[in-house]
Amino acid sequence: MVSLAMINDATNAIRVRYSGTPAIGIILGTGLGALAECIKVDLSIPYEDIPHFPVSTVESHTGRLLIGTLQDKPVMVMQGRFHQYEGYSLQQITLPVRVFKMLGVRTLIVSNACGGMNPLYRRGDIMLIDDHINFLGDNPLIGPNLDELGPRFPDMSEPYSQRLLSMAEESALELGIKVHRGVYVAVTGPNLETRAEYRFLRALGADVVGMSTVPECIVARHMDMDVLGLSIITDQCFPDSLHPVSLEHVLEAAAIAEPKMTSLVTHIVSKVS
Ligand code: HPA
Repeated sequence: MVSLAMINDATNAIRVRYSGTPAIGIILGTGLGALAECIKVDLSIPYEDIPHFPVSTVESHTGRLLIGTLQDKPVMVMQGRFHQYEGYSLQQITLPVRVFKMLGVRTLIVSNACGGMNPLYRRGDIMLIDDHINFLGDNPLIGPNLDELGPRFPDMSEPYSQRLLSMAEESALELGIKVHRGVYVAVTGPNLETRAEYRFLRALGADVVGMSTVPECIVARHMDMDVLGLSIITDQCFPDSLHPVSLEHVLEAAAIAEPKMTSLVTHIVSKVS
């Protein structure tokens, strides 16, 4: 169980090295790694140096907290994120989001790779997350409520900020980048879905499926942070014509979409007040 004391410990370990207020927190998922190169980094802290921070076990995710500026905006960036399938609790996974809030972050931008189930979506496309379905069988808010941070029964009528979504659509239009707006369903993984599961998840009302983002969004909304979620469709999950998918195939699509994602997020950050 993650306590307020643990959150404070982690926050203080950063506070002694950094006294600013990062307005925007960014979690770099698959396909947004290159954004790190656009950041003027003032301070880089390995996760091992922050008490209670989990350490990523996935090779394609590095583990560092970057503090600096992007488009002259103070940002705090998680280079490397955590997943339930690694064996962490959802509270451990979302501890960094709690710490972001304690340090003054008001806007959270999260990216991920996902499988596209909407037949209009293509591999390499970007979807702005309009809504989500928590299909993880767990919730990071289970347990004693941290009343200092948010309410017992947080509202979820607007998990992803409509204001940020409009800004993101405006940015995409200005940059000539095609984006969809849809529903993300989170599953535990680590295996990809069977044909029957894709059919089922599509029938539930989801456009894409992935293994992250939802816990971070729930915890951010618990603390009244505004959330923007962006997904890269790395594989097409059409149950009636499903092909085997490898990690290489996923990473290749993410790499193709990476320049689009990087310029889109950079553009959005320049507009966030
Ligand atoms: N399913 C779940 N997670 C994913 C997928 C998928 O097809 N592709 C990339 N992440």
